[in-house]
Amino acid sequence: MSKKQVRIGMVGYKFMGKAHSHAFRDIPFFFDTDVVPILQAIAGRDEQGVRQAAEKMGWASYETDWRRLIERDDIDVIDIVTPNNTHAEIAIAAAEAGKHIICEKPLALTLDQSLEMLHAVKKAGVVHMICHNYRFAPAVQFAKKLIEQGRLGKIYHIRATFLQDWLMDPDFPLIWRLRKEVSGSGTHGDLGAHIIDLARFLVGEFSEVIGMMETFIKKRPLGDMDIHLKGRAESGQWGEVNVDDATAFLARFENGALGVFEVTRFSRGNRAGNRFEINGERGSIRWDMENMNNLQVYLEDDEPGLQGFRTINCTEVEHPYAASYWPAGHIIGYEHTFINLLVEMMYGISKGYSPAPNFEDGVRNQAVLEAVEQSVRTGKWVKISELLKLRELIGG
Ligand SMILES: NC(=O)c1ccc[n+]([C@@H]2O[C@H](COP(=O)([O-])OP(=O)(O)OC[C@H]3O[C@@H](n4cnc5c(N)ncnc54)[C@H](O)[C@@H]3O)[C@@H](O)[C@H]2O)c1
Repeated sequence: MSKKQVRIGMVGYKFMGKAHSHAFRDIPFFFDTDVVPILQAIAGRDEQGVRQAAEKMGWASYETDWRRLIERDDIDVIDIVTPNNTHAEIAIAAAEAGKHIICEKPLALTLDQSLEMLHAVKKAGVVHMICHNYRFAPAVQFAKKLIEQGRLGKIYHIRATFLQDWLMDPDFPLIWRLRKEVSGSGTHGDLGAHIIDLARFLVGEFSEVIGMMETFIKKRPLGDMDIHLKGRAESGQWGEVNVDDATAFLARFENGALGVFEVTRFSRGNRAGNRFEINGERGSIRWDMENMNNLQVYLEDDEPGLQGFRTINCTEVEHPYAASYWPAGHIIGYEHTFINLLVEMMYGISKGYSPAPNFEDGVRNQAVLEAVEQSVRTGKWVKISELLKLRELIGG
C-alpha cells in the first residue's frame, strides 16, 4: 500500500538546509512512518545557487522567492532554515496559508515576535516544531528516561556549556550571526538556545536567571563564511559587532535545581563543546556532543567499591531511536539528531499534534534568552514568569 506523501518546501539551503535535506531523505530509509516526506521544492534568492542546491540535494523544483513556495498548493510543510530575522515573517505567512512548519532555532529575534508566531500556528491549527536537534541524540533521550524513572532522584544541579573557537581571529568577517538586527543576539541565541533547551528538556522550567555578556572584538571586516566556518572578508569595509561573543549565566529552576551555563566562541581548542553534567540525590549523568553516542552515568545504588562513572554506549535496542539504525556499538552521528527530530514531525503530521519541541518550547526558550539579556542590562536577577506572564500569554 502506498504511503501518504508529505511535500516539503524548504526556505534557505546552506548549513541547516543540508542537514534538513539529508534528514528528510533518510527518514523513509531508516523509519517505517505512515507518512513519507517528499523533497518538493526549495527557495533561495540567487537563481543559480538555488538551482545547483536543488540538484545536489535532490529537490524536485525551486523558487527564487519564499512567498511563491508558500502560495504553491503542492507544498504541505514549510521548513525554515534561514537567518533568525526571517523566521517570523515566513512562519506567520506559512501558518496563514495552512502549511505545517518546522523552524530553526532560535524561534525569533524577540520574545514578542516568538509569541506572534505561536499565536499564528495555534490559530491556523497547523503542526509546528522548532529544531532543537540535540535532544534527539539517543544518549540525551536515554538521560531523560533515567531522570523520569527517578534513577537520579531529586535533581540539584545542571552545568552546561557550548564552547567554540572559530571567531577568535580579529579579521574574521562580520557575518549575519554578528549583527543583532539579523540574529537577535550572538553566541547567546545561537548556542545558548541549545543548552537552554537541553536544560528545559532534562531538568524542567527555569525560574530566574542572572548573567554576564562580553563582546571581545568590537569591529570586523564585512564578508561571509562557508559551512566549514571559514570566513572571507569581501569589501575592505568594516562594521561594528553589536552582539555578544560570550555569555554566562546562573539559573534557578522551578523544581529548586541550580544551573550554571556558559557559551562562547572564544574558547581555544573547543570546536563544538556542547556538554552538560546533571547531579541528583542518587546519581549523576554527563554528556558531550563530541562523543554523542556515550552517556556517563554514576549511580549511588551501585555496590560500594564498584561505584564510579560508567560509559554507556547508547546504541543498544533499549536506547531511544537506536533500533532504527545499526547493530549495537555501530555509532551514529550529528546528522542523525535531525533525522530523529524530523521523524517526530512526520508522526505529528500523521496523527495531528505538534511534537515537542514545538513553538511553545520556542517561546519559553526565547523568554529565558530575553531574561538573561535583561539581567545583564539591569545587573539583577530576572524572573521568567514576571518577564512574560507566560501562562496567560500562551494560554497554557
Ligand atoms: N539546529 C542547529 O544545530 C543549527 C545549527 C546552525 C544554524 N541553525 C539555525 O539555522 C538557521 C540558518 O542557519 P545556517 O547556519 O543554515 O545559515 P547559513 O548562512 O548557512 O544559511 C542561510 C540560508 O538562508 C538563505 N537566506 C538568507 N536570507 C534569506 C531570505 N530573505 N530569503 C530566502 N533565503 C534567505 C541564505 O541564502 C542561505 O541559503 C538559523 O536560524 C540558525 O540559528 C541551527
